Amino acid sequence: MDTFTATAARTTRLRSEIAAHPGRHRILTGERPTGRLHLGHLFGTILERVRLQQQGVETFVVLADYQVITDRDSLGDVRENVVEAVRDNLAAGLDPRRTTFFTHSAIPELNQLLLPFLSLVTEAELHRNPTVKAEAEAAGRGIGALLLTYPVHQAADILFCKGDLIPVGKDNLPHVELTRTIARRFDERYGPVFPVPEALLTDTPELPGLDGRKMSKSYGNAIALGATEDETAAAIRRARTDSERLIAFDPEHRPGVSGLLATAAVCRGVAPEDVAAEIGTGGSAALKQVTAESVNGFLRAHRERRARISPDEAAEVIRAGNARAREIAIATLDEVRAAMGMRYGF
Ligand code: TRP
Repeated sequence: MDTFTATAARTTRLRSEIAAHPGRHRILTGERPTGRLHLGHLFGTILERVRLQQQGVETFVVLADYQVITDRDSLGDVRENVVEAVRDNLAAGLDPRRTTFFTHSAIPELNQLLLPFLSLVTEAELHRNPTVKAEAEAAGRGIGALLLTYPVHQAADILFCKGDLIPVGKDNLPHVELTRTIARRFDERYGPVFPVPEALLTDTPELPGLDGRKMSKSYGNAIALGATEDETAAAIRRARTDSERLIAFDPEHRPGVSGLLATAAVCRGVAPEDVAAEIGTGGSAALKQVTAESVNGFLRAHRERRARISPDEAAEVIRAGNARAREIAIATLDEVRAAMGMRYGF
């Protein structure tokens, strides 16, 4: 059984354990603040976070700012991206009293865990990571040392707060696997400090973007949660479809049409085939209109809540989250040093 199948099976078992004992667990998850959050993020991860939080599990969300520079030379508008991401998370229903939002850059003690953790993995193990391999190929040039080692840094994100449940998509499974290895090796070498965390595979299928490929900001096929209704309709009108009148769901031969159908369908909670049947021979214009109405209708409440959360309010949530995360990181680093025989007292 491969890691993916094994994790999918474990996830089912974990979900009943969470429902039975939410207070025994701590969730850590996060994202790279490289741009605005879109519909794919909402369906892929954020709504899942909200469900877990509502079950009563304590949640941590890292806005992984040091991870932005793994594959790019500049941070861009990183402050704005962090603030806007938190506004979207809050608008979706995450409650700052139960969820701690923080950034890498504010937590020096988290970053310091990287050093002992790097000593626990081999260079060959890092080179074998399939996600890093794919990212290196996409970069198409020699890779920086941070790209190679960021999965170890991600282990520090998870272990500094002793997170034991890690909701991630498929791409991040190798990183959770490495985190498990690091936790085990640390505990074997220095004594019990860390739990061995489990990945929680998010069960929503990947949302296709406006062109049928995976929804991603870098493909320019995404619908930002914070866009206006007009911007949303305009982006949908620009989507490439075809001139066939009969609208049908056929992802292989009609990726553009099918991407729009899938987007409309997921927003209405129906099957793409049902949306297609409704449009019938209305052609692309009708399809685009229906899709824009479905997306805007679905996002209306989110956008209203979002508008009521000011950037200052989000910044305050991050400030408080950073303070709390830092306290935990200080305590964990102290424990790590004690276990390693490095709590010198001078
Ligand atoms: N690598 C994750 C992504 O692709 C973001 C992330 C950073 C993360 N640190 C994490 C996810 C810790 C889960 C746990 O967006």
